[in-house]
Amino acid sequence: MHNPQRVVILDFGGQYTQLIARRVRECGVFSEVLPYTATAEAIQKLDPKGVILSGGPSCVLDEGAPLCDPAVYTLGVPVLGICYGMQLTSVMLGGAVAACNLREYGRSLVMMDRRDGGLLEGLSPQSFCWMSHTYQVSAMPEGFTVIAHTDNCPVAAMADEQRRIYGVQFHPEVTHTEEGRRVLENFLKKICGLAGDWNMEAYAELAVQRIREQVKDGTVLLGLSGGVDSAVAAALLYRAIGHRLTCVYVDHGFMRAGESDQVVDIFTRTFPVELVHADAAETFFADLAGVTDPEKKRKIIGRDFVEVFKREARKLGKRDHFAQGTIYPDVIESGDVKGSAVIKSHHNVGGLPAELGFDSLVEPLRMLFKDEVRKLGLTLGLPESLVYRQPFPGPGLAIRVIGELTPDKVRIVRESDLILREEIARAGLDRSVSQYFTVLTGARSVGVMGDERTYAYAVAIRAVTTDDFMTADVAQIPYELLGRISTRIVGEVKGVNRVLYDITTKPPASIEWE
Ligand code: XMP
Repeated sequence: MHNPQRVVILDFGGQYTQLIARRVRECGVFSEVLPYTATAEAIQKLDPKGVILSGGPSCVLDEGAPLCDPAVYTLGVPVLGICYGMQLTSVMLGGAVAACNLREYGRSLVMMDRRDGGLLEGLSPQSFCWMSHTYQVSAMPEGFTVIAHTDNCPVAAMADEQRRIYGVQFHPEVTHTEEGRRVLENFLKKICGLAGDWNMEAYAELAVQRIREQVKDGTVLLGLSGGVDSAVAAALLYRAIGHRLTCVYVDHGFMRAGESDQVVDIFTRTFPVELVHADAAETFFADLAGVTDPEKKRKIIGRDFVEVFKREARKLGKRDHFAQGTIYPDVIESGDVKGSAVIKSHHNVGGLPAELGFDSLVEPLRMLFKDEVRKLGLTLGLPESLVYRQPFPGPGLAIRVIGELTPDKVRIVRESDLILREEIARAGLDRSVSQYFTVLTGARSVGVMGDERTYAYAVAIRAVTTDDFMTADVAQIPYELLGRISTRIVGEVKGVNRVLYDITTKPPASIEWE
């Protein structure tokens, strides 16, 4: 499968372009995202079976609005314009676009006028779609007919069956468009004639091919964090270049119980790469002595992390390239952060490649969403226990001990967290609760154990459900289960005599306590 059938997606700067690519992958089709400036000749070279024109923030009537090569429409393959892509198609082929009387934003009821074949085949007569536009097609180019409309938008979708050129004003790629998947499937399979047999194994093969092209016979250094993304990137690189990959795992001593061992075990046995396990707990503890402010903790951990990584990289000697498990949401977030308030500063090793003199940066997961990364991880042979690991903050358990850190306090969160994880898994809730952990609150209180008075710590349980971690609900864990967890924590974790359940949503609270 070295030259898979594909579609080309031309990117006009829309926020959903990668989402279109993802939906196309879900239909079992490989896609290549190119900038809108790609020439028809360059597109032709890829031998696509269809072209999709994405949405974008511009107005096609503005001077300097992004236009595609007009020859895109005469390549002889079907074209689907989405939102801006549809308006562009209208203007470039001799139609017109005008401001809407009523700007449509959000869910709109769309009347599907032609469902007897073509793009809208098999859709319901009326279907809710996601619309977001200020302009719309006011006159279609010759050869086009209306295939869908809304109360405010007379041309919500159009088609020229002869030339196989289509446009939709709504966004089939977002889940709010109820039958969007069907629209994309119709385009890809019925209109472009694609088989839909592309899968994660094929993705892995292509990614391997691309890594080999980039790295050639060079060597690569990768920082393993203990999380899913860097582990999947490492497994992929191992498949591509084998022993020319070296991994450095900086262990700050704030990992959950068993995690460091699992990482080291996987990457020395299943993927026998050269692995440096830098056990730097002492350095981190020493530098964090007396620090209570959460942001200071993060800064120190971030700084130490980079220092330890650099030290280990220098010891290893020259490696040609630097690899990172950056995934698509990281790419968006790093573009968006400008000007937004820093609530919690997340550390990363972004500045490292240049500083350490690498030839290039290898980021094989850059275009994938989290759930796709997980699928890829399973395809590559990583165990489910690692692939479905819940998110874990870079600074680890250090931000789950409120106030000053000591090895004993870290032990308390680690042991109580393990009990919580065991019980949640036993109850079968580990996939439905998005994130769950324990926190060592600073509070101590009086209790009785046996006939003895105790004065010990209170541990809090935090368990949330969320899609994007920007907002979160409190997970509804059954009382009985909470009771069992509480009994076990107080009984098994020395230094704890009280367990609390955090019932605050985000906002106003954040997910982590620090
Ligand atoms: P908050 O606490 O901001 O958490 O509601 C949202 C998500 O981000 C994770 N988180 C972090 N991740 N470094 C990270 O890599 C950090 O410093 C950090 N702080 C919070 C948190 O676990 C949750 O998934």
